[in-house]
Amino acid sequence: MIDERYLHDWSGTRYGQPLSLEKPGSVTSLAQWLKRCNEDGSPVALQGGRTGVSGGAAPGDGEHILSLENLREVISFDRQAGVIVVESGMILADVQALVEEEGWTLPLDLGSRGSCQIGGNAATNAGGCRVIKYGNMRNMVLGVEAVLADGSVIGPPNVLVKNNAGYSLTQLLVGSEGTLGVITKVALRLVPTPPVRLAALLAVAPQIGVDELLRCCRVGFGESLSAFEVMWPEYVEAALSEKADVRRLPEGFDGMRAVLIEVEGQSETAIGAQLEEVLSQLYDKNIVRDIVLPSSIKDGQALWAIRESVGEIQRDIRPYAGFDLGMPASQYDAFVTAARSNLESTGLPIKSYFFGHAGDGNLHAVIGPCPTDDVRACVEAALYDLLPAYTTTVTAEHGVGRKKKSMLGRARTQADIGAMIAIKRALDPKNILNPGRIFDL
Ligand code: LAC
Ligand code: ZN
Repeated sequence: MIDERYLHDWSGTRYGQPLSLEKPGSVTSLAQWLKRCNEDGSPVALQGGRTGVSGGAAPGDGEHILSLENLREVISFDRQAGVIVVESGMILADVQALVEEEGWTLPLDLGSRGSCQIGGNAATNAGGCRVIKYGNMRNMVLGVEAVLADGSVIGPPNVLVKNNAGYSLTQLLVGSEGTLGVITKVALRLVPTPPVRLAALLAVAPQIGVDELLRCCRVGFGESLSAFEVMWPEYVEAALSEKADVRRLPEGFDGMRAVLIEVEGQSETAIGAQLEEVLSQLYDKNIVRDIVLPSSIKDGQALWAIRESVGEIQRDIRPYAGFDLGMPASQYDAFVTAARSNLESTGLPIKSYFFGHAGDGNLHAVIGPCPTDDVRACVEAALYDLLPAYTTTVTAEHGVGRKKKSMLGRARTQADIGAMIAIKRALDPKNILNPGRIFDL
């Protein structure tokens, strides 16, 4: 019997009954096992921490699950250069804690940090809340070791910052969602830990676009700005009612869009002064209505807890439709207004929550409950039918997996998809690695 938790990702959707669960303890045994699968033409479902929401890790009928969870050693840590090489099954939070002890930081940060795995972060090119400053996982990965479908192993992971010796197989595998190879080791480029990190919550004045506030913060804080997260009022209200540990907000936040910003720097006095100066100007110019400046680290964490309530919010509206759109922040407000109006005209008894990583143009929505396929189709149409009028992608960070597969043609051209399929056929001719994810062959 395969434990239930291996049958779906974090979205909960199941796609079929797998045949077996394999958890290799070494790259050699993984490679031998995969070679046999390839000879037999047996399909394989790759799994990290299963915290994705696009259905990529969820096994289908007749698939063999390959879990990386038993590959979790640190291979090397160059404390001088700030480069660590780890096996794919290591939990993100464990790698973060380990490098922090030595004054280094892995700046990828996600709500699922306690259970997602480094290999999955690389395979899906994970994003999260600090992309505005540090980029996606892609920017932190120097190299990978990976087992290809035929059992051959590419690697060892590159650890040099500059290396133009041929095609970057690393960047090809990062974001390939387990369709081109099994990433087994990842070399990560770390940054020195910023001594100070301060958060603040801003209530955006109704007449001000999210993009205007973003511009002011980018100009005002420059390189110090490390997060810029927007939440529409329903999201904030739901988060506050869900969690006992989140702080109350002043009345100025009632009915307003809220933006959580974070700034990083070398000294508390300097960063504190910069925050005060920029925020008081924003207040005086009536760009923000109200401001919460935490007085302690715990207080700051309570602000982040509002943004990280997405799990609880989703739980209350299951089964929900999740959106991971990309568009310039200048289009956010118009899009959300139009989407709301489309949703309202469906007459469905649903709740909708809009939020996202506005600093990097990634707009999320969770909408539900969608108890039937018809309701889900209606909800999806309410948003996706608007897309031609905006500059968008259908998945900014979660990946295509199974859930966004039918939408791929809206974000990429036929020539793009043709080139992707050619690469897939060259590296996995029998289509055994995560078949039916990203596209059908
Ligand atoms: C987040 C997930 C939904 O940003 O990507 O909370
Ligand atoms: Zn996100």
